[in-house]
Amino acid sequence: MPTSDQPADKSQQLKILIPEVRLQQRVQEIAHEINHDFQGKEIVCICILKGSFIFFSDLIRHIDLPMSCEFLGVSSYGNKMVSSGEVKITLDINEPLEGKHVIVVEDIIDSGLTLSYIMNSLRARKPATLKSCALLFKPDSLKIDIEADYLGFKIGNEFVVGYGTDYAGKYRGLPYVGYLEHGH
Ligand code: IMP
Ligand code: MG
Repeated sequence: MPTSDQPADKSQQLKILIPEVRLQQRVQEIAHEINHDFQGKEIVCICILKGSFIFFSDLIRHIDLPMSCEFLGVSSYGNKMVSSGEVKITLDINEPLEGKHVIVVEDIIDSGLTLSYIMNSLRARKPATLKSCALLFKPDSLKIDIEADYLGFKIGNEFVVGYGTDYAGKYRGLPYVGYLEHGH
């Protein structure tokens, strides 16, 4: 039985891209930026499921503001490694966002299509502020002009897993961000 830190396919090696300590440091820095920027305000943090659930739960524990948490399920990939460009809402938010200070927390900006779709659909709900926060950004893959207001790390085009992100549903539990390297 493969476990979450052992590749299912023996021809693939799992390598560490961003170790746990760097993730934890950067998450704290982002939370401090948010604490500073939203001082005196109440915020709504939106966790984009499924990929950002670990980043989100680490981040909110360093946020020192009155806050509520919401969960938005989107699906864009199926089991493929490339974006389909199609974004489906699989779980919507029932709370009204009108007049609220909203921060959308996403795992990865790859083509940018998913975050762009999410931001546009949330903007229509008339929040007072709408900011985005992404752990990872792949600038070379971008197909649309978008960037995160709060960003963890810029990375290359490699397909990453761990710290909430998956390949075909696996590896989400890894405490680091890794990538699969094909063996020869
Ligand atoms: P985009 O619409 O192409 O920007 O894709 C964004 C979504 O695809 C992210 O929210 C991730 O869930 C997923 N994704 C993009 N790149 C990767 C990756 O390298 N590993 C795992 N998931 C990824
Ligand atoms: Mg995602």
